[in-house]
Amino acid sequence: MMRSHYCGQLNERLDGQEITLCGWVHRRRDHGGVIFLDIRDREGLAQVVFDPDREETFAKADRVRSEYVVKVTGKVRLRPAGAVNPNMASGAIEVLGYELEVLNQAETPPFPLDEYSDVGEETRLRYRFIDLRRPEMAAKLKLRSRITSSIRRYLDENGFLDVETPILTRATPEGARDYLVPSRTHPGSFFALPQSPQLFKQLLMVAGFDRYYQIAKCFRDEDLRADRQPEFTQIDIETSFLDEADIMGLTEKMVRQLFKEVLDVEFGDFPHMTFEEAMRRYGSDKPDLRNPLELVDVEDLLKDVDFKVFAGPANDPKCRVTALRVPGAASMPRKQIDDYTKYVGIFGAKGLAYIKVNARAQGVEGLQSPIVKNIAEPNLNAILDRVGAQDGDIVFFGADKAKVVSDALGGLRIKLGHDLNLLTKEWAPLWVVDFPMFEENDDGSLSALHHPFTSPKCSAVELEAGPAGALSRAYDMVLNGTELGGGSIRIHDKGMQQAVFRVLGIGEEEQQEKFGFLLDALKYGAPPHGGLAFGLDRLVMLMTGAASIREVIAFPKTQSAADVMTQAPGVVDAKALRELHIRLREQPKAE
Ligand code: AMO
Ligand code: AMP
Repeated sequence: MMRSHYCGQLNERLDGQEITLCGWVHRRRDHGGVIFLDIRDREGLAQVVFDPDREETFAKADRVRSEYVVKVTGKVRLRPAGAVNPNMASGAIEVLGYELEVLNQAETPPFPLDEYSDVGEETRLRYRFIDLRRPEMAAKLKLRSRITSSIRRYLDENGFLDVETPILTRATPEGARDYLVPSRTHPGSFFALPQSPQLFKQLLMVAGFDRYYQIAKCFRDEDLRADRQPEFTQIDIETSFLDEADIMGLTEKMVRQLFKEVLDVEFGDFPHMTFEEAMRRYGSDKPDLRNPLELVDVEDLLKDVDFKVFAGPANDPKCRVTALRVPGAASMPRKQIDDYTKYVGIFGAKGLAYIKVNARAQGVEGLQSPIVKNIAEPNLNAILDRVGAQDGDIVFFGADKAKVVSDALGGLRIKLGHDLNLLTKEWAPLWVVDFPMFEENDDGSLSALHHPFTSPKCSAVELEAGPAGALSRAYDMVLNGTELGGGSIRIHDKGMQQAVFRVLGIGEEEQQEKFGFLLDALKYGAPPHGGLAFGLDRLVMLMTGAASIREVIAFPKTQSAADVMTQAPGVVDAKALRELHIRLREQPKAE
C-alpha cells in the first residue's frame, strides 16, 4: 500500500507521527520561502509544508502544479493557534513534508478545482472525471453509497434475496418508450432494455423466492426533466403472501431507518391519503405536505353565476372550479399576479382569477378583483367563508377541465410555497393509496395508471362492468412532493389478468404474443404477491439536497439523452450494421 492515511483522516491525535499521503495537488502557495501544498484525496484535504532545509524535496515541491498526482511522506504537527482552519477536517494539523514523489503530472485542468467557479454543465460532463474530484460531488456519491449499503443491510436482515434479472429482454410496459437493441442472430428482431424488472420479479415469486430485491438499472426513452434520466436505478422489491399494509409497513420502516442512519433525521407522522383526497386538496397525486396551502372546490356556489368562465365548468362534471387562498398575500403587486397568470398558462389554464380581501366588513367594497362584479354577494360570501378568507388574504381561482385546474392550481400552490417561503417543515412523507385502475386517453380508450399487472380492489366482473371507476391496490410513497416509489399488489389469477388486458383493448392474440409467458406462469401456481420500487436517484437527490438528478449520478446523460464524454450514442460502421441486418434511412448528421 502506498499511503498510510487518507488526507481527511489526519487529526491532532497523530501529532508527531510520520505518515504517507497519496493524492492530488489541490492548491499550491508560496509563502515567504516556504511552500504549502494542499493535498486532496476522496476523504478531504491536508496541508503539507515544505521548507527550504530539505533542498531536493523543496525544489520538487516548487515544480508541482495543480492536479499533479503525488505521494508525500512527512510528520504530522499541530498548527500554531492562529493558523487552525475550522473548515477543514484536518484543519488543526499540518504535515511537515520530508519526501515528495510526483506519481504523475497533469495539464492545467479545464476548470479550476481549488476555488468555486461557475462552469457550464456540458464542460463538467465532458470532463466528469475531473468534476467528480470536487469535494461536493464526491460527497454526494459517498452518500449514495452509504444509502445503498444501509438499504441492502435492511433488506438482507429481513430475508430478501438479491437476484439479478436480464437487461436484454422484451418490452416491459411501464408507459415509456423502449430502448431497442438489434439482434444479430435473429434478423429483424430486437431486444428491449427493461423499463423495470416488473415481470421478472413477479416470475421469481411464482418460482417461490418469497422475498426479492435488486438494485436494478432501468431504461426509459422519455422526455427528460430535472428528476428523470433515461437510464436510472430502482431499489426493486417483491414479496409473496404479504398484503399492502405489510408491504407499506416493511418499506416505510426501511426508509425511516435509512434517514435515521444516514442523516440522523426522524420521520414523524407518515399519513396515508387516498388519491381522491390528494387531487382534491392539493391538485396532485404527489402532494408536498410541507406546504400549508390547499385547494378548496367551489363549483356548487358558481353554478348559476352570470359569468361563463365559471358557470360553464361549474356545471360540467368533467370540469373543476377551485379556490386557493394565500394568507396575508393581498399586497401582492399586479406584476406578480400577471407572472402567476403566465405560469398557470403552462398547464393550459386560460386565466387566473383572484380576489384580494382588503376588508371583509365592507362587503364587496372591501374586495379588489376582476370577477366580484359577476358573482352575487351571498355566493361571494359563501366562497370566502368556505376558504376561510381573512383581511389581507388573496384567493386565486381556476375553472376548466379537471386536469387543467388540478395541474395549474396544484402547480401554483407549489410555486407560491417556494416564492413566499411558506414551507412549514423539512420532511413530509406520506403514502398515497386507492389509485384508480385506469386513466382515460383523449380518444376515450383506457390506459393502466400504474401498470397492467396491478390488482383491482373489485372482482373481474365488476371491473369489466365499470372499469373507469375501479380502484387499484396500488400505493406510492411521496416525499416533499416527489414520488419516491410506487408499487402494488399484483394480479395472481389468470382470469383477472385477462380481464384487465381486455379492458385495455389487448385481444386474446396479442395477450398470447406479448404476455404468453406471464399467463402461463399464472396457470402453474402463482402465489398472491406484491411489491414496489423506489427511485434510488430521486432518493439520493432528496437526501443530498441536489437540484438535479444528474448531480447524484456518476456519469449521467444530458438533457438530450447523450453522453458528451464518451460521445454516445455514436455512429456505427457499415459492417456492424450489415451484421445486424440494418440499413439506415438517413445518414447520421456529423455533429
Ligand atoms: P414506476 O414506474 O412508478 O414503477 O417507477 C418506480 C420509481 O422509479 C423512479 N423513476 C425514475 N427515476 C428517474 N428517472 C426516471 N426516468 C424514472 N422513472 C421512474 C420513481 C418511481 O417512483 N415496476 C414498477 C414498480 C412496482 O410496481 O413494483 C415501476 O417501475 O421514483
Ligand atoms: P375575462 O372575463 O376573460 O377578462 O376574465 C376575468 C378574470 O377571470 C381574469 O382575471 C382572468 O384571468 C380570469 N379567468 C379567465 N379564464 C379563467 C379560467 N378558466 N379560470 C380561472 N380564471 C379565469
